[in-house]
Amino acid sequence: MPDYIPFNQIFKDHTELEAVQEILSGETWHGDGPAGKRVEAKLSKWLDSRFVFLTTSCTHALEMAMMVLEIGHGDEVILPGFTFVSTANAVRMQGGIPVFAEIKASDLTLDPVDVARKITPATKAVIPIHYAGVSADFEGIRKAIANHSGSGQQIAIVEDAAQAVGAWWNDQALGTIGDIGCFSFHDTKNITCGEGGAFLTQNRELAEKAEWIREKGTNRSAFLRGEIDKYTWISQGSSYIPSDLLAGVLEAQLEKRNQILALRKQVWEAYRYRLQEAAARQWITLPEIPEYASSNYHIFHFHVPDPADRDPLLRALKDAGIGASFHYIPLHNAPFAQKILDHPVSLPRTEYLAQTLIRLPLYPDLARISDDVADRVMKVLTRFFQSKGR
Ligand SMILES: Cc1ncc(COP(=O)(O)O)c(C=O)c1O
Repeated sequence: MPDYIPFNQIFKDHTELEAVQEILSGETWHGDGPAGKRVEAKLSKWLDSRFVFLTTSCTHALEMAMMVLEIGHGDEVILPGFTFVSTANAVRMQGGIPVFAEIKASDLTLDPVDVARKITPATKAVIPIHYAGVSADFEGIRKAIANHSGSGQQIAIVEDAAQAVGAWWNDQALGTIGDIGCFSFHDTKNITCGEGGAFLTQNRELAEKAEWIREKGTNRSAFLRGEIDKYTWISQGSSYIPSDLLAGVLEAQLEKRNQILALRKQVWEAYRYRLQEAAARQWITLPEIPEYASSNYHIFHFHVPDPADRDPLLRALKDAGIGASFHYIPLHNAPFAQKILDHPVSLPRTEYLAQTLIRLPLYPDLARISDDVADRVMKVLTRFFQSKGR
């Protein structure tokens, strides 16, 4: 077993290089080329999604989502305090107000009870995050919204499915359930092209707007399909289409999706099995996967009961060659949130969960040695907690 187990490692073989070589030897390097079109069609078929648009990142797909929904000055958008900055920035960039809500202790996804509390007449959207590739509670979130829609108020659901490609809520793919879904193909994600993302919707009207926004606010895509004879500027927009070179890498990765899922599952289950005893001794708490969720095993994480133990335990794991980590630092009390919010936000459950979180290395190539790595983690936990007399 190697001395140091990194936190993440890209799963690749010769096919990514071959895909790039083939595209480089051709004449179409720009976006929306043959590889991009094939990837969109493959994602659409796999996930049963009516519209899929590749983007340059999930950050950009989220920005598109806020533009498509016409979020504007003073509109409120509810999102968990426990998320990546891009979720909140997308709201802010349109002049919207991010309204931070609590997460559930069992799976770190948005708490529908707190969503219900935070809906106001200014609420325009809710953004659940599928943390670790485990579905947020759609039923709970929809109920919270439905209780407020009697007055005719429309509240959209935008799934921040950055971590959730190939994960499911019942028999529906994450990213295809809300009004809009956003994926990430960053190289920390299960399927990657380095930097990339996708915008998904099942709604034709939203798809049409997304297509303009992604193509610099023009109807150039309809022009290229021969549907109109010239194209022009028809909405705000930007340049969100990835080069075909990246789409080629993504296509090669997509072909390996079943293998990637099976290997990640193997690692996740090795941790789960071998750390059970640590949970039984109440040294740690293991995450739960709700019955409605099929995970894509993006993250394996656990919590220590006492926040004071988290950093020393992270150090002990690193000293033992385990590249463990934590993430996210909640956004609601980050410096920029304090600057833009007109009152301080307190989310005690989120703060406690973030301060007690530890994430373990998880990537397909670890499957070869996952039992040994999980044993090594268990040894560190045993030494750490026994030295404290627990
Ligand atoms: C919840 C969430 N949203 C958005 C992003 C941003 O994704 P990208 O790096 O593709 O812009 C991330 C990145 O990790 C994320 O975890």
